[in-house]
Amino acid sequence: MNKTTAAITAVHGVVPEKKLTNADLEKMVDTNDEWIKSRTGISERRIVSGGEVFSDFGAEIVKNICEKRGIDPLEIDMIIVGTITGDYKFPSTSNVICDKSGAKNAWGYDVSAACSGFLFSLTTGQQFIETGFAKKVIVIGGDIMSSIINYKDRATCIIFGDGFGGVLLEPNTDGFGIQDAIMKVDGAGREFLIQKVGGSANILNEDNVNSDDRYVYQEGKTVFKHAVKNMAGVSADIMERNNLTGDDVDWLVPHQANLRIIDATAKRMELSKEKVMINIEKYGNTTSGTIPLCLWEWEDKLKKGDNVILSAFGGGFTWGAIYIKWGY
Ligand code: UT7
Repeated sequence: MNKTTAAITAVHGVVPEKKLTNADLEKMVDTNDEWIKSRTGISERRIVSGGEVFSDFGAEIVKNICEKRGIDPLEIDMIIVGTITGDYKFPSTSNVICDKSGAKNAWGYDVSAACSGFLFSLTTGQQFIETGFAKKVIVIGGDIMSSIINYKDRATCIIFGDGFGGVLLEPNTDGFGIQDAIMKVDGAGREFLIQKVGGSANILNEDNVNSDDRYVYQEGKTVFKHAVKNMAGVSADIMERNNLTGDDVDWLVPHQANLRIIDATAKRMELSKEKVMINIEKYGNTTSGTIPLCLWEWEDKLKKGDNVILSAFGGGFTWGAIYIKWGY
């Protein structure tokens, strides 16, 4: 019998209505449209408003995926959510999404891996499918970065936005789906991209409740250097391990942190620009949301059998790449 692989069989994405443009940010911090566009590639991002919460977007993703695939939410075995900005510290956002979407037979949990959250979650879901433990796993990646961003800090507020996406994983015995994955962490990088206050190492209290340490801190230049080296490196490694050249790869789906990091990765992979999914201009860096949002926007262009490389780098440090033979 052929090996069972985990194939993506449906995708969906969703972003909040409200836009935060570069012109809006010019009024909030000392920055300008030209600098943001040339240094990052971003023109605008979406942010939540009016009490919008992650689990509502997540439930919408689950319902849409089930509709597209013609299945009932009761058939879903697991929901895995990659995020650092879930509804609560606990219970997990997966629990809440299972409830709100009617996936009453599913279990699941959240995965914390910052910008690599979707990739770490996807390869986690892959294991449950390949072993036969689960037949239908929904993997969601998303973040409400606006909930942890300091809109007085121009080093971070210009980059991040809110957005969500998800995929359905099902078993495949015809060779489609996830072929290979490389996942990496380096905890020594934690000091360069971190939310210092709010965890048990530094609990929120009356002394720090108004300090900037409750927001995302990023040493941009250092993170940038590591991102270029590792995202490009892991993408080249997964190609080499699977004997793929730039000509063999149909699509790169890169984490959307900075257009210059994406360009460096594509160059290292010897890919032409048309093969690279880029929507950073519209959404900015939605952390765990970037990769599934790209898959959703490019779904119509993806063809069965396409060689697709997903690649990310983020806080932790965390990074990785997944090679998929597209299944539909
Ligand atoms: O997704 C998770 C991982 N995160 C990333 O991958 C992000 C990686 N880092 C980056 O994308 C970039 O480092 C940033 C976009 C955050 C910053 O770009 P940069 O080219 O590294 O800028 P920089 O921090 O080196 O600053 C260059 C100059 C400085 O001015 P001087 O000292 O040269 O006069 C900054 O003060 O640009 C200035 N600057 C700004 N100017 C206008 C920094 N931020 C801004 C700003 N608007 N928002």
